[in-house]
Amino acid sequence: MTQQVATNITWHEGTVSKEERFKNLGQKGCTLWMTGLSGSGKSTIAVALEQVLLQQNKHAYRLDGDNVRHGLNKNLGFSADDRTENIRRIGEVAKLFADAGIITITSFISPYRADRDLCRELHDKEGLPFLEVFIDCTLEEAENRDPKGLYKKARAGEIKGFTGIDDPYEEPADAELHLKTHELSVAESVQKILDLLKEKGLTSA
Ligand code: ADX
Repeated sequence: MTQQVATNITWHEGTVSKEERFKNLGQKGCTLWMTGLSGSGKSTIAVALEQVLLQQNKHAYRLDGDNVRHGLNKNLGFSADDRTENIRRIGEVAKLFADAGIITITSFISPYRADRDLCRELHDKEGLPFLEVFIDCTLEEAENRDPKGLYKKARAGEIKGFTGIDDPYEEPADAELHLKTHELSVAESVQKILDLLKEKGLTSA
């Protein structure tokens, strides 16, 4: 658990509730937390989903692992501690986006169950929906796809501590949705996420 370092700080409550924000926007904020191996399809599905939601006049926003590591988390690497901090920060950012009323779609490997559970807790405490989506594909399939050529490098020993090769991935035990992307098309995966949002009362479309 990350320690509170700053002292002499006081929470300043506003006068606008999230319910009022959601009413104004005509939608409820939430976080769709996608987790899975590199190359499993998280970013691809996130991009397609964001596009469909836009067409349904929904306000959605993607937080993508590789992208966030270019900015907010550019000072973090891939050690266990850095991955934990990466996910903690994104959990906090996603919570803020959800609180603002946005359908927030995160695509991070997020290999550790405890880190994902912490993100869920952060949302639960604020009464914000957190839906974990396991983007599952076999390591063999992810390696075959190898969209960034990173598995090849990891196998050649040029990248150390690569998830699935010589670094762990802890599968979710109770994700709200389990998508096997070696069996489903991108469109089918997107539809299943849309169905989940609808079932949870987060969209009407
Ligand atoms: S996480 O483990 O901290 O959640 P994150 O999703 O932000 O990872 O970043 C993963 C992306 O970084 C991969 O899709 C890949 O492009 C790249 N990457 C570079 N090095 C590694 C590594 N050692 N393990 C996994 N992904 C890596």
